[in-house]
Amino acid sequence: MNEPTLFPADFLWGAATSAYQIEGSPLADGAGASIWHEFSHTPGRTRDGDTGDVACDHYRRYREDVALLGDLGLNAYRFSVSWGRVLPEGRGRINPAGLGFYERLVDAVLERGIQPMVTLYHWDLPAALDRLGGWLNPDSADWFADYAQRLFRTLGDRVKLWVTLNEPWVVVDGGYLHGVLAPGQRNPFAAPLAAHNLLRAHGSAVQAYRAEGRHQIGLVVNLEPKYPAAETAEDLNATMRADAYWNRQYLDPVFLGGYPPELSDIFGEAWPAFPDADFDLIRQPLDFIGVNYYSRQVVRHDPADWPLAAARVRQPRQTHTGLEWEVYPRGLTDILEWVAGRYGPLPLYVTENGAAFYDPPQTEGEIDDPLRRRYLRDHLCAVLEARRKGVDLRGYFAWSLLDNFEWAYGYSQRFGLVHVDYATQRRTPKASARFYAEVIQSRGAALKWDHSA
Ligand code: FCB
Repeated sequence: MNEPTLFPADFLWGAATSAYQIEGSPLADGAGASIWHEFSHTPGRTRDGDTGDVACDHYRRYREDVALLGDLGLNAYRFSVSWGRVLPEGRGRINPAGLGFYERLVDAVLERGIQPMVTLYHWDLPAALDRLGGWLNPDSADWFADYAQRLFRTLGDRVKLWVTLNEPWVVVDGGYLHGVLAPGQRNPFAAPLAAHNLLRAHGSAVQAYRAEGRHQIGLVVNLEPKYPAAETAEDLNATMRADAYWNRQYLDPVFLGGYPPELSDIFGEAWPAFPDADFDLIRQPLDFIGVNYYSRQVVRHDPADWPLAAARVRQPRQTHTGLEWEVYPRGLTDILEWVAGRYGPLPLYVTENGAAFYDPPQTEGEIDDPLRRRYLRDHLCAVLEARRKGVDLRGYFAWSLLDNFEWAYGYSQRFGLVHVDYATQRRTPKASARFYAEVIQSRGAALKWDHSA
């Protein structure tokens, strides 16, 4: 029986990771410390005091991990470069050993016929730059563009898909507004400035790429569709504020040349006036947008919520992940359609999607993770639906290849398709990984056979 294939032959089937979350050896071979190294070593900042000192030991085991990607049949791999490995002070002197690691990694990935997608910034700012003000320093745009240019020159012939920033919203909301992520600031006046400098840095890096790069560069944002709890004016307004803050704050300046008007109401006196000329820098043509999707938010007006006055309403009948994120596959179709309509036409990728669930103990070498498997299946069906509705979606990257260091949650949350035993560093593909491999091999047809989950 010939099952119809549901995805084109050139669709990218990937998995995503990030440097600090998997590499370990953060100071090896002359690397400079990052803000995440310092943050995780500050008592009380991460669950159980967990750090990325060892993580998945990927810095030393990368060959094994690349082999895993190949064995699962993936044809794409999204990973990030640790800025401080390449430039220990964040600028100036290059560290050849650090750069060499990424050259070897890219070569190993390409040898397996896998297409690398390289993220330049996945949250691990060199600590030396943070001491100069980090993203609050307007020079950060130049620091970032210089760093990016060195990577373009070294890897640009081999890497065809580049990402400037991963989730600037999280960098600012967690790192500068609420202080729960590195560098741990809690300052409403800092947040809009950090956001703006991140966007300027993005624009500068894209300009640097255009000067010499021949392939594709884009931005990765985390998007979360917002739905009003009730059709009241209060809830509808709260929904608009939440949408402006989460979904439009970064994409509007990049594609439309200005911030959503709601932001000055949200930040009040902390919202500065930005020079018009900055938007010329920020608004660089892009080759694609990467969308990271995990959940949705049902929004209720709530004056106690700061700074949005927009609270999340828990949906008791829905499945929630280990992080209490509601599982809502339809939101992925909705948000992809929204992005394509508002900012397109433009190629899109789902650059992260996945779930932390408690994994039952291993029996006979198998880890059965039915909830993650079902999450994967339902979100891939949502991707299919978006494509059917005309969205130019060219690839999907599961978060994550491996269980890893989940930032402030440390090792308590497992997102991997592949289980990592942190005591032995043994990798074991979970049932969800096997299922993903079947979907890939059948170009989607296995989504239709699967009624088990
Ligand atoms: C995203 C991050 C990624 C990972 C997942 C669960 O916000 O980009 O590093 O932590 O969430």
